[in-house]
Amino acid sequence: MKIKNICCIGAGYVGGPTMAVIAQKCPEINVTVVDINDQRIAAWNDEDVENIPIYEPGLSAVVQEARGRNLFFSTDVDAAIDKADMIFISVNTPTKTYGIGKGMAADLKFIELCARQIARVSKDDKIVVEKSTLPVRTAEALKNILDNTGNGVNYQILSNPEFLAEGTAVDDLMNPDRVLIGGDIETPVGKEAVEALVDVYAHWVPRERLLTTNVWSSELSKLTANAFLAQRVSSINAMSELCEKTGADVNEVSKAVGMDSRIGSKFLKSSVGFGGSCFQKDILNLVYISKSFGLHEVADYWEQVILMNDHQKRRFAAKIVQTLFNTVSGKKIALLGWAFKKDTNDTRESAAIYVADYLLNEQAEIVVYDPKVSTEQIYTDLDYLNSRSSEENRARAKVVNTPYEATKDSHAVAILTEWDEFKDLDWQKVYDEMLKPAFLFDGRRLLQRETKEAIGFEFYAIGS
Ligand code: UDX
Ligand code: ADP
Repeated sequence: MKIKNICCIGAGYVGGPTMAVIAQKCPEINVTVVDINDQRIAAWNDEDVENIPIYEPGLSAVVQEARGRNLFFSTDVDAAIDKADMIFISVNTPTKTYGIGKGMAADLKFIELCARQIARVSKDDKIVVEKSTLPVRTAEALKNILDNTGNGVNYQILSNPEFLAEGTAVDDLMNPDRVLIGGDIETPVGKEAVEALVDVYAHWVPRERLLTTNVWSSELSKLTANAFLAQRVSSINAMSELCEKTGADVNEVSKAVGMDSRIGSKFLKSSVGFGGSCFQKDILNLVYISKSFGLHEVADYWEQVILMNDHQKRRFAAKIVQTLFNTVSGKKIALLGWAFKKDTNDTRESAAIYVADYLLNEQAEIVVYDPKVSTEQIYTDLDYLNSRSSEENRARAKVVNTPYEATKDSHAVAILTEWDEFKDLDWQKVYDEMLKPAFLFDGRRLLQRETKEAIGFEFYAIGS
């Protein structure tokens, strides 16, 4: 079975880059990415490819090559579904903010809407691929809706979780460690569907990296991988606090520990806390599923990773207040970075949001600079927490276009995202224009202590 037409529902951080790379690597397959957000689709179609809605190094070049050839962005969801042999679902699955499982379970309403739309529109057999991160056994729910509301056509549901990390998405997609494809491999039709997707990836991924499993193993593997990665960050962050008390340096500990080949060096960088759309959501999903099966010890074990992360964000903000003579009321504090990591304009669950909120609760005046995040997004993030009115957020938090506007006349500067450009700021100028004592808080271990102290900064870095 050869795939000729792919439709992807959801033109976000996952759907956009993934489909761009599939289209680039498979010129004979037509790929249409659809979204209900017409502004987003318009941005993907912008004549100037630098205006695509997602900032991701290398992505605009890939889009430039494939767009209009075999990569299309559209708001006509029905037409794209109708034409496709294979439909990827890449819509958002945020944590529920209401009802049962509030604050923990994934909200699957967008997935369900997609399933109902596919069922309504489809006139011939389809392979439906879950790409969004989902709780285990979502495929079953999808199948149920499709089979019971459809027009009698046959559906094969595959799970193909995304392992790309934002900021390195293009490279991760081009050279994946592995691609996981879960399907009904016990039946001939299920196997055929799995093979069809394997063939798509085999255009550029070596066969031995294409892993096929049953659907539930695939779904659970995604949650497990993210839980393990997040756990490493929380583990090193736990050590960072102990380092600060004992005089050890967390970077030295991390290096020493990471050189043990059994442990490995990745994801051992201490920070102000992990963010992003996946880690917290996936662990909460894991906790929720475990609890629903009565596995309370398993649930508590994983929940601690989140609690540690919350503690790290709070601890960093509290450190700022405490260092500034126990009050930041009316003081100007510059926040450098808002994205949850460098090289992305995504801010979901970014530690910066929580640090800012904490400081605003302490009556600070904050000024934010981030090279890629829009002003509008920053206010949306603050408003979303509902801690104060949106007028007050606009009055007390300012967003500026250069780092020096943020740091000028400030009492303290805090690095919240590890953007490369912060390393090379004119730190002497920053110091000269700040109020004294000039406090500098490095939440990312980005800066050299010696050079900053030599300038005259009162310097604090996580974990030392
Ligand atoms: C993650 C997974 O890596 C990816 O496989 C999955 O598909 C989606 O979730 P992402 O959230 O894009 O990707 O970024 P990642 O690089 O994993 O970073 C997550 C957070 O952890 C960031 O806030 C980052 O700053 C933080 N982090 C990461 C650390 O604090 N220390 C580290 O050593 C690594
Ligand atoms: P992710 O990081 O998972 O890609 P995003 O929020 O960046 O998440 O992207 C998800 C996209 O899915 C959004 O652009 C949203 O508008 C789109 N979307 C959600 N529900 C539907 C739907 N029923 N039909 C089409 N697009 C949808």
